[in-house]
Amino acid sequence: MEGSSRRRRSAILTALCTFFALALSSSAQEFLSIDCGADVGRTDEAGIKWVTDDGYVKTGRNREIRETGTAVQLGSPDFSLTSAFTYPTARVFTEKRSKHCYVLPVQKNSTYLLRTIQYAGESISTASIAFPVSFNVTVNNEVWYSFSGQTDDDLGPFFYESVFYSLQKEEVDVCFVAGALGTPFVNSIEMRKLNPLSYYEVQRGGVYRFLDFVGRYNTGQPSNSSYISYPDDPYDRYWMPITNILRAGVANSSVLATPTQADQTTAGWNFAPERVQEDAWVGTDLSVQFPRAEGAPRAYAAWYFQEIRNLTAAELLRNPTQMVVSLNGESHALNLSTFSPQQVSMLVELESSTTVDLNLISPNGSRPAILNAFELHWAYEVDQSTTNANDATVLKSLQSIFGLEDWQGDACYPVAWDWVACDGDSRIIELNLSDKNLTGPIPDAIVELTQLQKIRLDNNQLNGTIPQSLRTLRNLQLLALDNNNLSGDIPAAFVDKAGFTFSGNPGICQVGGNCNSTAPNPAPAEASKSDDDSNEKIYIGVIAALSVIIAVLVAGLVFCSVRGNRYKSRAAPVVT
Ligand SMILES: *[C@@H]1O[C@H](CO)[C@@H](O)[C@H](O)[C@H]1NC(C)=O
Ligand SMILES: *[C@@H]1O[C@H](CO)[C@@H](O)[C@H](O)[C@H]1NC(C)=O
Ligand SMILES: *[C@@H]1O[C@H](CO)[C@@H](O)[C@H](O)[C@H]1NC(C)=O
Ligand SMILES: *[C@@H]1O[C@H](CO)[C@@H](O)[C@H](O)[C@H]1NC(C)=O
Ligand SMILES: *[C@@H]1O[C@H](CO)[C@@H](O)[C@H](O)[C@H]1NC(C)=O
Ligand SMILES: *[C@@H]1O[C@H](CO)[C@@H](O)[C@H](O)[C@H]1NC(C)=O
Ligand SMILES: *[C@@H]1O[C@H](CO)[C@@H](O)[C@H](O)[C@H]1NC(C)=O
Ligand SMILES: *[C@@H]1O[C@H](CO)[C@@H](O)[C@H](O)[C@H]1NC(C)=O
Ligand SMILES: *[C@@H]1O[C@H](CO)[C@@H](O)[C@H](O)[C@H]1NC(C)=O
Ligand SMILES: *[C@@H]1O[C@H](CO)[C@@H](O)[C@H](O)[C@H]1NC(C)=O
Ligand SMILES: *[C@@H]1O[C@H](CO)[C@@H](O)[C@H](O)[C@H]1NC(C)=O
Ligand SMILES: *[C@@H]1O[C@H](CO)[C@@H](O)[C@H](O)[C@H]1NC(C)=O
Repeated sequence: MEGSSRRRRSAILTALCTFFALALSSSAQEFLSIDCGADVGRTDEAGIKWVTDDGYVKTGRNREIRETGTAVQLGSPDFSLTSAFTYPTARVFTEKRSKHCYVLPVQKNSTYLLRTIQYAGESISTASIAFPVSFNVTVNNEVWYSFSGQTDDDLGPFFYESVFYSLQKEEVDVCFVAGALGTPFVNSIEMRKLNPLSYYEVQRGGVYRFLDFVGRYNTGQPSNSSYISYPDDPYDRYWMPITNILRAGVANSSVLATPTQADQTTAGWNFAPERVQEDAWVGTDLSVQFPRAEGAPRAYAAWYFQEIRNLTAAELLRNPTQMVVSLNGESHALNLSTFSPQQVSMLVELESSTTVDLNLISPNGSRPAILNAFELHWAYEVDQSTTNANDATVLKSLQSIFGLEDWQGDACYPVAWDWVACDGDSRIIELNLSDKNLTGPIPDAIVELTQLQKIRLDNNQLNGTIPQSLRTLRNLQLLALDNNNLSGDIPAAFVDKAGFTFSGNPGICQVGGNCNSTAPNPAPAEASKSDDDSNEKIYIGVIAALSVIIAVLVAGLVFCSVRGNRYKSRAAPVVT
């Protein structure tokens, strides 16, 4: 009794929480529409609010485009659709960098649709795309699409769509990875939070995938009709007419059941909108073939069915509409015995096949099959590699100390930032900040990147002393500190060590013989200038003296164990 009432209460609580969560998450949060490169936001004809990319990306320049194209090309089948898209601006990544990332907010454990438009168009502003161009666009650190073109005639507009699962992170990186040629660019980025159970294959069995869109087709519509999207589809997917490539007639009927709440909560139910369901392809044998995208490992297909013909409920129950669908030979039988919508989705390995075949037949003796909509995607597993969390936190603090915040996205994946190198365990092993105009002291935080092998900080204006703690970096093979304004002692362990260079620092002093504490530091001359300055000099002098004493007195194991402990206690706050 008590147990059951408690369970009920918790169910009600869950329902309430869900309600509040839904009520709080306005459509503004569930829809993010970025007009890349635009100076101001706008609201489109469908009522969707577009924002500028301020705050989402920190590199690139705005580019205005004279609109010459109106058709968005889709990969296959040969198909184009006239649209109301506007893309008068683009963001062009003119800086030479390994990658440029948009960092977009997501909720954990949620399924999202992500869409971009690439349209080089005809520039009417100075920021120009360098042709030929080639770059990759990645999501969740996996290559989503490769884009290339010789001239702006080759360049679209094109749209790309994927469905991904956000898992444990509260942001997703959409990165433009520069190839050898040209400047990456992008015109718009859209994110739509989907029904939690839709496209369930993106998380099925604890294997995370992203789906790369091939097509989503509204069967039964004349081929010249417009695509269906928001507000007819609350998730703003594009449902495109496809009658021209299907070989049979169109059915329509006033008998139309609408999807119910129960259907939406069934795992795998992607929920095609009513306007898509209200017309259908009808026939006995449907076969559609798509060329396989190079390297695509799996195909994901979803079929949407709803009996909309002029039948009575009793007739349909007595004699259900029988169908068999198949995807590359793997088949599934289903019967429609009510007017409720049904869906079948399938994920198949493609192995060596060069095509993907979708088939639908009605067995002998059944009334003709009916198909209201279908879609096809390539499914890629997401390996979810990210930079070691501790290293990522240390890099964040180095970025804020040195003003390097415009490096966005994951430090190591899908390709490393230009100034770090990573090993196979996602640890940072190299830091190259030569010539970066860095000022101030060398941050102690560097030693928390415990796997560092090479540190290049040469040709900056770093000052202060060389942190003794650098000794704790056991794998350090290279330390370039030349041409800075460092002072004080070189840690004894680094003196005369190959790969450790300190030249061009007027205030530096080497332990072990050729130390010259008076010459490089004209302290008395400075003391007359200001009291503050002289206090600082004295302070530095004390530190330097202490360092020498410690270095001389404390040796071997004792020294190392003290350092080891200090290192651990310093690292601890970063870990937790
Ligand atoms: C997300 O899912 C994982 C795995 O199912 C679970 O451990 C985690 O608690 C979930 N996180 C949230 C915020 O729901
Ligand atoms: C782009 O992706 C392709 C396919 O994954 C890969 O072969 C190529 O090296 C990538 N190019 C860049 C510039 O990352
Ligand atoms: C589509 O084509 C048909 C016949 O070719 C024509 O009657 C109809 O007006 C066209 N519809 C649109 C939206 O262009
Ligand atoms: C199908 O029927 C619906 C409702 O009667 C109607 O709105 C729609 O235009 C029809 N579609 C076609 C392709 O005739
Ligand atoms: C549906 O079928 C019934 C009986 O066969 C017929 O009277 C009715 O006109 C049909 N309705 C439509 C919309 O075709
Ligand atoms: C569909 O209905 C037929 C005839 O009623 C039956 O033989 C068959 O097993 C059913 N198939 C499915 C998948 O329910
Ligand atoms: C239907 O019957 C024909 C002729 O008997 C046969 O060739 C065909 O394979 C059958 N189709 C199905 C789906 O059983
Ligand atoms: C280090 O960075 C500088 C400036 O960014 C660059 O010129 C140099 O080639 C880089 N060195 C290495 C070894 O990556
Ligand atoms: C270096 O930094 C200073 C101030 O921090 C700034 O005024 C100067 O323009 C920078 N120089 C370069 C080449 O970035
Ligand atoms: C280091 O340089 C900064 C200016 O970049 C200055 O404010 C600071 O006092 C200097 N520190 C030392 C120890 O010289
Ligand atoms: C180096 O530091 C000294 C003392 O803080 C300062 O007077 C000098 O201007 C600095 N030199 C450069 C190049 O920053
Ligand atoms: C130390 O300073 C003296 C004079 O101040 C100078 O003659 C000598 O060359 C300096 N030695 C070094 C190693 O800098």
